Amino acid sequence: MRDCVVIKWGGGLITDKEKMCTPNMQIIESLSNVMKRCMDEGLNVILVHGAGSFGHLRAKHWRLNEGLLESYNFEQQDDCKSQKEAVSIVRNEMLTLNKNICDSLKNLGLNTSVKSPHKWARNTGSNFDGNILEVFSDYQDSICITYGDVVDCEDESSFGILSGDDLVVRLSEEIPNVRRLVFAIGGVDGILKKPPESANEDDLIEVWSPDLKFEGIHNTEIDVTGGIGLKATRGAEVAMLGIEVLIINGSYPQRVFDACMGIEVLGTKIIA
Ligand code: IPE
Repeated sequence: MRDCVVIKWGGGLITDKEKMCTPNMQIIESLSNVMKRCMDEGLNVILVHGAGSFGHLRAKHWRLNEGLLESYNFEQQDDCKSQKEAVSIVRNEMLTLNKNICDSLKNLGLNTSVKSPHKWARNTGSNFDGNILEVFSDYQDSICITYGDVVDCEDESSFGILSGDDLVVRLSEEIPNVRRLVFAIGGVDGILKKPPESANEDDLIEVWSPDLKFEGIHNTEIDVTGGIGLKATRGAEVAMLGIEVLIINGSYPQRVFDACMGIEVLGTKIIA
């Protein structure tokens, strides 16, 4: 059986986070090339991507991460009048971003198999309900791709946001031959001791475990999920299983490739 790597492309890396629904095609294409190189080297790769400006901005306005808020008086948007409408718009936005990614991979001759969470997953957090082994049964034949999405919830919240950072945990736990989990993020080289504006190269935390505190950035103006803190926590859950976990700067294709291949690379290694 070939080794398998789960890779998460952060939404802030693959989109322009300030501009509604704007993909960063240059980065998406460079990451797609890395996927091809990894496959050529004999790895299975499962791709999970974030939302960036495709999901967070509207999800934030309509507080979709809090579920159905029936009595809240939302400010309506020209193209969206209710939370329910926002749910379907965000799902469509995610499909659009996903299509950009699939096209870029297909242009390199790679097979893709998309697993949209709203079709197979329920509830949020890393213990969400969904049959990973059944849904991802073709992961050895194609690049299986999934992403952070708005999913139905069984309680009164009715819907919620399942982050890609939660999906990677379950994929790493349940797919039998996962050796490594790589978070490729934008703008920083890994977990920093200080917020990026005031950090220098000495502030990169090369090895992180949950007992080490850091001042993580979490842009709550834009982000409806957990920022770098969620990645760190989820990463530690995966590291507990003996799987290698790395957070690296996804703007450097060679680092992404090396991280996937298990070659020493600049970034943060997470240990349990
Ligand atoms: C967020 O998913 C999904 C939506 C807002 C619809 P992620 O938590 O995986 O996204 P990023 O990486 O932070 O953009």
